[in-house]
Amino acid sequence: MNVLITAGPTREPLDPVRYLTNRSSGKMGYALASAFAEAGHQVLLISGPTKLDIPDGVDLIPVESAAEMFSAVEHHIGRMDTAVFAAAVADYRPASISEQKIKKHGDTLTLELVRNPDILGSARGKFSFTGVLVGFAAETENLETNAREKLHRKGCDLVIANDVSQPGIGFDSDRNQILLVYPAHSEPLLEDEKHHLAPRIVREIELLTAGA
Ligand code: C5P
Repeated sequence: MNVLITAGPTREPLDPVRYLTNRSSGKMGYALASAFAEAGHQVLLISGPTKLDIPDGVDLIPVESAAEMFSAVEHHIGRMDTAVFAAAVADYRPASISEQKIKKHGDTLTLELVRNPDILGSARGKFSFTGVLVGFAAETENLETNAREKLHRKGCDLVIANDVSQPGIGFDSDRNQILLVYPAHSEPLLEDEKHHLAPRIVREIELLTAGA
């Protein structure tokens, strides 16, 4: 099947030398891309900036900002059977990008931020995507409730939830502990390395696709 995966952080430019970003390493998304390719699927990885090598057999579209990621997803999602949104997309971006490097003036500087488009939230509506849709939920409290709410609100078939308040797992880590949240049930997976969890998640998504 054709699989689209978003991964990594986004970079939201402020001026020619500065940007806002987050701690996402891209490891979970890249591990999934690799596991899908190893299972014989066609993978398109749309990734923000990471230090990771492109997995074998995976097509990569590198992007920086959320707006660029949105456009790339909009362009390619129509021919996909499955879309997995593992990117940590910045919720806000600077309201304007200064053409020149911003100079220091007073003791404080106030930045105005505006909302970025919700790429996963556009899949069912704006992009009319009818394939299997998988999102991630990084939460610091009420993991299952928040993930299930996200599943319904964004029209997902599966939300992969992880508790980012726990040190050593999740964001910017090689390990993860996840909860698979489906419309009618949920299933925790034991803490493990991301590249061990990835083939397991791929099998779950293959089953969803078979039943779709
Ligand atoms: O609403 P929240 O940001 O917590 O949702 C997380 C999920 O939505 C992840 O799958 C993430 O990749 C996706 N997302 C997105 N575009 C955004 C924000 C989040 O695709 N602007």
